Amino acid sequence: MAQPSMQSSYPEVHSEVRQFIGSRSRRMLIDGKWVEAASGKTLTTYDPATEEPLADVPAGDKEDVDRAVRAARKALESGAWPKMTASERGRALWKLADLIEQRTEEFAQLETLDNGKPLAVARVADVPLVVDHFRYYAGWATKVEGETIPVSVPGMFTYTRREPVGVVGQIIPWNFPLLMAAWKLGVALACGNTVVLKLAEQTPLSGLRLGELLEESGFPPGVVNIITGYGETAGAAIASHPDIDKVAFTGSTEVGHLIMQAAGASNLKRVSLELGGKSPNIIFADADLDEAAIGAANAIYFNHGQCCCAGSRLFVEQKAFDKIVPRLVEYSEKIKVGPGMDAATEMGPLVSSEQYKRVTGLLDAGKKEGAKVATGGGRPKQRDKGYFVSPTVFTDVKSDMKIVREEIFGPVVCAVPFKDPNEVLAAGNDTTYGLAAAVWTKDIHKAHRIANGLKAGTVWINCYNMFDAAAPFGGYKQSGFGREMGKAALELYTQTKTVWVNLGAS
Ligand code: NAI
Ligand code: MG
Repeated sequence: MAQPSMQSSYPEVHSEVRQFIGSRSRRMLIDGKWVEAASGKTLTTYDPATEEPLADVPAGDKEDVDRAVRAARKALESGAWPKMTASERGRALWKLADLIEQRTEEFAQLETLDNGKPLAVARVADVPLVVDHFRYYAGWATKVEGETIPVSVPGMFTYTRREPVGVVGQIIPWNFPLLMAAWKLGVALACGNTVVLKLAEQTPLSGLRLGELLEESGFPPGVVNIITGYGETAGAAIASHPDIDKVAFTGSTEVGHLIMQAAGASNLKRVSLELGGKSPNIIFADADLDEAAIGAANAIYFNHGQCCCAGSRLFVEQKAFDKIVPRLVEYSEKIKVGPGMDAATEMGPLVSSEQYKRVTGLLDAGKKEGAKVATGGGRPKQRDKGYFVSPTVFTDVKSDMKIVREEIFGPVVCAVPFKDPNEVLAAGNDTTYGLAAAVWTKDIHKAHRIANGLKAGTVWINCYNMFDAAAPFGGYKQSGFGREMGKAALELYTQTKTVWVNLGAS
């Protein structure tokens, strides 16, 4: 394994992190044991700020997924897990939250090194959200209830049970590695399922570290199996596996199509998808323009634009366009772009060379199609290494341009003027996506009218990027279906059994 070059560039790396990356991380978790890939193959994860290798992990494939599914099936049907009470499952989730919280700095650093995000953000956003998420679903474990049904057939007592769906396959992306693992695991475990979780090949480290805490939290072996590997191999093996009862996927819409096809062609496993977005962020002239301008920047630049709900299409009422856009540009130019481990950094690099090429390719397409670069548009001058892209604002865009239609997944926003609410509703909804949207106005009538008219799974009014474990999140249209978080997610991880009891003649 190539040694990380952290020492010189990152003097304050946590000793546990150094040890984890340096020595013990390079295995997958199957049936409670840390194992190599059956093939012996590995893949390398890189530090996107330096382009240097961080660690090698197993390149799991079909055979490893098969082993993991067998372990998950066994753990579902025998052993300690099906005997655990709901309360005990809840306590295990709570303990997992505690163990992660005690290691906040360690997890934050792993996330920053592997994904590139600023350490300050990983500390105050990613890790605390993960902790809160597990605690929230710890509470749900004891509250998954069936119903008694007043049927019209005499002499019958009829009730429903909410049972686990079974063995669930979960495939997660790299933009919030630990948080996406938490969104998937919390609800699945609260409801009593067993899991085969595939981490993103770009960012496997924090998920593997989480795996080390499962046993101590009280989860029996095989309840959570963690696979590292590529999408086309390990991920595809999950989607088409004949003995997986449900697959949950977060990632690109393109792969979402493949997951559904594989589920349909194999065993009709249940599917839930959380896919891409091209979310409209709508500012009316009667909004608090200072707040809205900062809101527009945060909407697109949070996590370097690598958010499925990024506010990548900014619609500004014509009258306010020349007030908002210059402020957004000024703000964009002040953002400190640099390595995530540097305390001064506000925006880190993109996650990988592949994403760097994709985003810069779309920047070039925008310029070629005639959009005007108000700021940014490429690599920051002072950075010659790392996958850095400057915060970028395009104006003079047309609705058929690639940069307006396609998810960029980088710090790139298209600003578009509009004249009236109906026009902006039509333009805002003119996309195949429907994950999120926002509206900024002081007019309460208009705010709610627009919120009702937007075809999106989440609408923020006078705010953006608000998340809570209790608030459902998911897509309309090709942004996917099924909701994560909140009570809504329980639907995806339970199935209803109706029981009819003949009470006999009285
Ligand atoms: P991706 O959709 O290829 O990868 C996401 C996850 O799916 C990873 O774990 C990957 O290994 C797995 N995967 C890939 N191909 C698969 C297959 N055939 N079968 C099963 N699993 C598979 O996303 P990628 O290539 O990393 O990024 C491409 C674009 O996707 C981004 O530019 C962005 O637009 C979008 N994206 C959206 C995300 C979201 O949060 N909705 C997250 C990541 C990417
Ligand atoms: Mg891909």
